[in-house]
Amino acid sequence: MLDNFVSVAELERQASFCNKVRELVLGKGMLAFVITLGCQQNEADSERIRGILTSVGYTLTDDEAIADIIIVNTCAIREHAEKRALSIIGRYKHNKARNPNTVIGVCGCMSAQEHRSEQLKHSYHYVDFAIGTASLHRLPELIYNALNKGKRTFLLDEEKPQIAEGIPVVRESGHRAWVSIMYGCNNFCTYCIVPYVRGRERSRMPSDIINEVRELARDGYRDITLLGQNVNSYGKDLDGEYDIAYLLHEISKIDGDFWIHLMTSHPKDASDRLIEALSLKCCANHFHLPLQSGSSEMLRKMNRHYDIEKYLGIIDKLKKASPDIALTTDIIVGFPGESDEDFERTLEVVKRVEYDSVYTFIFSTRKGTPAYSMPNQIPDEIKKARFERLNDLQNDISRRKNEAMIGKIVRVLVDGKSKNNEKIYTSRTESNKIVHFESQEDYTGKFINIKITRADTFALYGEI
Ligand code: 5AD
Ligand code: SF4
Repeated sequence: MLDNFVSVAELERQASFCNKVRELVLGKGMLAFVITLGCQQNEADSERIRGILTSVGYTLTDDEAIADIIIVNTCAIREHAEKRALSIIGRYKHNKARNPNTVIGVCGCMSAQEHRSEQLKHSYHYVDFAIGTASLHRLPELIYNALNKGKRTFLLDEEKPQIAEGIPVVRESGHRAWVSIMYGCNNFCTYCIVPYVRGRERSRMPSDIINEVRELARDGYRDITLLGQNVNSYGKDLDGEYDIAYLLHEISKIDGDFWIHLMTSHPKDASDRLIEALSLKCCANHFHLPLQSGSSEMLRKMNRHYDIEKYLGIIDKLKKASPDIALTTDIIVGFPGESDEDFERTLEVVKRVEYDSVYTFIFSTRKGTPAYSMPNQIPDEIKKARFERLNDLQNDISRRKNEAMIGKIVRVLVDGKSKNNEKIYTSRTESNKIVHFESQEDYTGKFINIKITRADTFALYGEI
């Protein structure tokens, strides 16, 4: 199990690079800019990247034009995400042309793929380094290489990537926090690139996670999301009887007023112990359970290891344990071979479960995954038409569910002033519904009660 973790010797080696970079950077007012694409896992990784950058002497900036180092944290989940990443990297050519000392680095799921790493090395000469998702702890070394003689470094992750504990973190928010509890994925859903770019599942030690949550609670964090590609299989690789339910029970003993969210879960591992633990006081009354398709035949082709009966059985148990639990899901339309009947089954499940919201995706072929070469790829027009029908159906359900909240008093966590209107504040309920309200006083980072007065598909409106 110890080989799950980056060795102390390697961490010490990086610490010495930290010192060397500091000598080159400190006192020169050097600025760092980090851009994050993709999911919450990347958001959490970027908080570690910012932690490392500040610890080696950079000051963070929101202005890429004046940055001395730019890091692009990329996503590869769909083709569009990769195109976007490449176009963003492309625009930094001008930064390098203006100031040849600018360091440009790429990390995340896109650069974890060998063909992309090669492409960055050979076609993007202004990129100083590109690394995989499990090599973030080596940033000090890569930055040193770039600053010292301009050496370019292109690193793919080890065959068996490890967890680096003790990396500094600069959190984006003062009241919402991500806590990675595990990394990687063992599931190999046939459409998904993640297992190829994030390696196999590896869990952090329960004591490290619990201490981190305790510190966050002490520092006034109010919404803590336990992150992993499939948090339901947390602990399977650890010695000892650890699982996600154990973690939730231990976290529930921590003093403080906070919500715990889980992101994300796989239905095949949603145990009764977990469902029971969700009713602990600290757990938000919300569960995200990716469906992907309402057709058991599609689920089989997707290698999901559950059928619709099993999925709906879990939903029934969740609703029985907590009748007003908010449910959200992920659905892919247009997987190879998806017939009209298969798609109708997806619509039926959406009607039956009545999710609070659904993240809908058009299937995107990912090179290297089994679905890439499956027969009966669905034409774009059909995919788009299905995507729109599914969204229309869910939008009706979301609006109806939101309208049913009118007149109710809900507890929200306030995020701050709305971007578009100075007088309006934005907040979220424990099920992540957005609530706007007017206020003279600034309650950012606090829980308050709001009476809902108006609702539409995507937001609720109310008064204190
Ligand atoms: N195409 C479309 N959607 C995908 N997802 C993962 N891979 C693909 C793909 N190739 C979706 C799944 C997953 C979510 C994070 O992204 O629904 O749950
Ligand atoms: Fe991808 Fe499936 Fe793993 Fe989720 S569980 S990251 S969809 S392979």
